[in-house]
Amino acid sequence: TWTTTNVVEEQIALIREQVGTKRAICGLSGGVDSAVAAALVQKAIGSQLTCVYVDHGLMRKGETEQVEKDFVAATGVQLKVVDAEERFLKALAGVSDPEQKRKIIGREFIRVFEQAQAELVAEAGAAGEDVAFLVQGTLYPDVVESGGGTGTANIKSHHNVGGLPDDIEFQLVEPLRQLFKDEVRMVGQELGLPEEIVQRQPFPGPGLGIRIVGEVTKDRLDLLREADAIAREELTAAGLDRDIWQCPVVLLADVRSVGVQGDGRTYGHPIVLRPVSSEDAMTADWSRLPYEVLAKISTRITNEVADVNRVVLDVTSKPPGTIEWE
Ligand code: XMP
Repeated sequence: TWTTTNVVEEQIALIREQVGTKRAICGLSGGVDSAVAAALVQKAIGSQLTCVYVDHGLMRKGETEQVEKDFVAATGVQLKVVDAEERFLKALAGVSDPEQKRKIIGREFIRVFEQAQAELVAEAGAAGEDVAFLVQGTLYPDVVESGGGTGTANIKSHHNVGGLPDDIEFQLVEPLRQLFKDEVRMVGQELGLPEEIVQRQPFPGPGLGIRIVGEVTKDRLDLLREADAIAREELTAAGLDRDIWQCPVVLLADVRSVGVQGDGRTYGHPIVLRPVSSEDAMTADWSRLPYEVLAKISTRITNEVADVNRVVLDVTSKPPGTIEWE
């Protein structure tokens, strides 16, 4: 019979058998799948696992801390954090085009991650150990979509540091291959992961970088982080997290409008709320949130976030609008 306890025990046995005495690496994204995969593998092989988290500076308020502190506290995993914020901001400077932003973020991410992998492989090698496995949070729907096979990952590192291996081949460990998202959440809960990680709503890999319409800068990211944190706080307080699929909060950095605050005229930016309901993100409808909740979010954002003098609600379904604005 299917129980999360059985799944956990079965996977732990399989992981131990597959990995043996070698070492494994797992990239953490802040999302549910990689967190649960890592926690399972940690439970199976303990200190033979090292996790890598690339902080690209595009996460929401508190998310990096969730990985660095809460996830580590809950699992005892060894974590290597790469602070790459400056590198990403530099690469994104002057870029407004959404596709261009996605490409840059994806490219930089792979470079930074592969360099971290190569460093870990070199360090282990110096200690006479072999990093042979890469853990991935592949789910059953991903397996079906991509035609089935399990395999290996071959990475060429784009490093410019001496002493690192040029070409590394890993075998994949994919302990969630038979599970659907809701089952992964149950397994995560069973493993004692924090609620904020297990119940996290979808969040795009390029992060807040594609929720700023216009150029991505540190100041704009900080401003958007504040607005987003307020929206999330109020949605949670109103008990709406399970009713909505996700609620992107978008900064229209290239748009300004006139406002009045205190006895002065302001010329600030609008924040867009994009709450949607959906089954699978392929189609979506805008969520009919209670007016009082919208009012509270609007009042708080305009009062608490400097440079924002207007909050607008996106009432477009998908199609024609995508969930994200970029
Ligand atoms: P759209 O905007 O295409 O989004 O309606 C559909 C779902 O996918 C998420 N999304 C992404 N997730 N990398 C991701 O990992 C991305 O580049 C990306 N773009 C969109 C979006 O948040 C929604 O859940």
